[in-house]
Amino acid sequence: MSDSFPRRSWLARCLGGGIAATLAALFYPVARFLWPRAATSSGALEMVAPYKMDELKRAEKTGQWPPPFNFGGKPCLLILVDGEPRAINAVCTHVQCTVEYRAASRDIFCNCHNGVYDLNGRNIAGPPPRPLEVYQAVRKPGQEEIIVSRKA
Ligand code: FES
Repeated sequence: MSDSFPRRSWLARCLGGGIAATLAALFYPVARFLWPRAATSSGALEMVAPYKMDELKRAEKTGQWPPPFNFGGKPCLLILVDGEPRAINAVCTHVQCTVEYRAASRDIFCNCHNGVYDLNGRNIAGPPPRPLEVYQAVRKPGQEEIIVSRKA
């Protein structure tokens, strides 16, 4: 009989812990939406992109876009918009999943919670609270290389 009290106490603590964990799991996304993290941005100022213009033109034809590359520790999308390169921070502003370019619908999509951005990085649907950072992407004169840099 005296054994049952510690067992009940242990079960009550487990139940309390489970309830607390459930409440935290429910309210954390709400809190993140109401008080979003500071915008993530790349630590790099400028670099030569690992993809060249001819690769992007080929990707535009085939629909097989290269994956985001590492731009100063943050994934960065490099796409073509009206024939010009565009580099966009690929970290979703909601809870930091990596976004992807959807060529068919010409938008940027986060499949964690169905967030959608336009090709200027503006958040247009779903839970993302802020736009994505758009970097400067310019072709080296007379060359196929693309220089990606953060806007000053
Ligand atoms: S992480 Fe939630 S929409 Fe991107």
